[in-house]
Amino acid sequence: MRVLSGIQPTGNLHLGNYLGAIRNWVRMQDEMTGDAQCFFFLADMHSITVHEGREQRIRNVRDMAAALVAAGIDPDRSVLFNQARVPAHAELAWLLNGTARIGWLNRMTQFKDKVGKDREGASIGLFVYPVLQAADILLYNATHVPVGEDQKQHLELARDIAAKFNSDFGVELFTLPDPIIPKESARIMSFRDGSAKMSKSDPSDMSRINLTDDDDAIMNKVKKAKTDPEPLPETAAGLVGRPEAHNLIGIYATLSGTTPDAVCAEFAGKGFGAFKPALGEVLVDTLRPIRQRFLELRTDDAALDAILDKGAAKAAAAAEPTLRAAYDAMGLMR
Ligand code: ADP
Ligand code: TRP
Repeated sequence: MRVLSGIQPTGNLHLGNYLGAIRNWVRMQDEMTGDAQCFFFLADMHSITVHEGREQRIRNVRDMAAALVAAGIDPDRSVLFNQARVPAHAELAWLLNGTARIGWLNRMTQFKDKVGKDREGASIGLFVYPVLQAADILLYNATHVPVGEDQKQHLELARDIAAKFNSDFGVELFTLPDPIIPKESARIMSFRDGSAKMSKSDPSDMSRINLTDDDDAIMNKVKKAKTDPEPLPETAAGLVGRPEAHNLIGIYATLSGTTPDAVCAEFAGKGFGAFKPALGEVLVDTLRPIRQRFLELRTDDAALDAILDKGAAKAAAAAEPTLRAAYDAMGLMR
């Protein structure tokens, strides 16, 4: 079993990123036994598909690295690195460009969603993004890839590329990876609109809990979160058609390790005036230690860069045999 996942280092980390991605990684890391290792990386080579200035990019990588460590990724147990420090990713992606088909990439819904009507004006990088993602995964013979629902199609593409390469070149080089999609597929919604995803790109800061928000800011955002005038129902079935209530109760349940049914049972018949302070408290208790570690780590760029350097050295060593075998299978002298 080899676990691998990546996240784009984009600024402004929020509760959605934590509950939807980072926390699952920490869990998987903590469940590993023996010598089994997880590989977690910052997909900075993928992030070139979004225009960003040099300084901001550098900051984003350090922010995300600090957030992962603060949330519990242990760089001594897991391999934590950024893609750009391991050139094997870009190299294998180029080799796989010979295998991936334009027709396959044309079917990628994320590409279609991101370009909208302006397909001609989109970068080539955005189009071949899933090929680099396949390279990320296949380089390390990852078997389990924890991702959100939206990445399922990219994982299928990685499997198709792996199978075609193996068959075209008559090798059994690449392992076919399986996506690991959390059952309670945590989709955290905006605090201002229960039908929109909590996102860093929402213009209203009140719509999200940032990882850097202090206790007062968290309490205030919870207090001001949109709700409805009804009391909490007896069971989670009563949350249908109440997206804001559903979201807040889901967050409370996730953070306190219980179920929405149990939360409803606890607060049945009470209004949000009673529920919100309790929610604020679990949020503060969960996020405070992460924020404190994050802010501390963020004061020392050199220490963060050292963590990433060490991770990159381990990753490069793990990737090298696969990369060499891929060149060799294709008859490319290296
Ligand atoms: P954003 O939507 O803020 O731009 P990204 O698209 O950069 O966030 O997502 C980074 C990671 O965080 C991805 O793994 C994504 O699935 C997860 N994620 C982002 N927003 C949410 C959310 N509201 N609920 C659950 N997971 C989320
Ligand atoms: N595309 C993924 C996302 O947007 C990030 C990613 C890049 C990734 N390479 C990966 C995830 C490899 C899993 C495995 O969330």
